[in-house]
Amino acid sequence: MDFKSKTILITGASSGIGKETALQFAKLGANIILVARREEKLVELEDQLKKFHVTTLVCKCDVSKKEQVKEMSKVVLEKFESVDVLVNNAGFAIYGSVSDLTIDEIESQMETNYFGMIYCIKNFLPSMLEKKSGHIVNVASVAASFGLPGIASYCASKFAMLGFSEGLKHELKDTGVGITVVSPIMVRTDFFDHPSFEKMPKYSPTSLSSKTVAKAILKAANSSRLEIIVPSVVRGAVWMKNTFPYFINPILGKSFKKQLDSTKD
Ligand SMILES: NC(=O)c1ccc[n+]([C@@H]2O[C@H](COP(=O)([O-])OP(=O)(O)OC[C@H]3O[C@@H](n4cnc5c(N)ncnc54)[C@H](OP(=O)(O)O)[C@@H]3O)[C@@H](O)[C@H]2O)c1
Repeated sequence: MDFKSKTILITGASSGIGKETALQFAKLGANIILVARREEKLVELEDQLKKFHVTTLVCKCDVSKKEQVKEMSKVVLEKFESVDVLVNNAGFAIYGSVSDLTIDEIESQMETNYFGMIYCIKNFLPSMLEKKSGHIVNVASVAASFGLPGIASYCASKFAMLGFSEGLKHELKDTGVGITVVSPIMVRTDFFDHPSFEKMPKYSPTSLSSKTVAKAILKAANSSRLEIIVPSVVRGAVWMKNTFPYFINPILGKSFKKQLDSTKD
């Protein structure tokens, strides 16, 4: 797909990966719909996008609220008729052991990261199917392949995203509509500003820039693959885990558990 004059909707566009993805698509001449809760951040970004002379729309929307997503989709489809690329990127994590997190905290991650994606897909997929074209890009994480102590409920939301995407991909065969998951390792964004990460080391030396992930999202929008892991070398680690789980899981588990325990001191 040539992105010039195409319509791209990005959830979680007010910061980090979503914001950078908006900039990268706009550079290529795509029209951009910016979705998030902090409207003032979206308006700031919309101003930044003016230099690319593309059409933009700011939509304040909490994707975890299905009525808000329905309303947002009505506004979007009235203005643009259909969306060519839907990037489900809105997401967050709350760090802590399952014993320490409340049920509400666990549910809230599922509501945004998993159900938020479903609400968007349910509202935008019909027009894509009608047009027989379009691509859904779901931003998951390597946490979609590894269940880790301290982020068990976040991992669950991303495992769910990957499983849903795989099932949907089979359903979409021969419809003209594609779906690809982008799964990055740690990325240097505001994601870790959540107070629950306060006692964690800020970023690992191998962490990625938002731009690297945004470029993978652009690639995903034209890809027939189910999942793009960023960086691609980490695919080897996922293969190792699936092939030799009794070897890899204890090593990973021990190291992440040590970190979790250290935050409790
Ligand atoms: N950073 C990492 O290490 C990392 C690694 C792998 C995957 N990811 C995934 O990448 C995605 C983007 O994260 P990021 O790193 O760019 O973090 P970020 O800078 O904190 O951005 C998160 C974005 O999600 C939006 N958001 C959160 N809850 C929302 C809701 N209920 N409704 C609408 N928008 C919501 C936020 O906007 P508002 O607050 O304005 O609503 C913000 O724009 C997430 O899905 C995350 O799980 C991140």
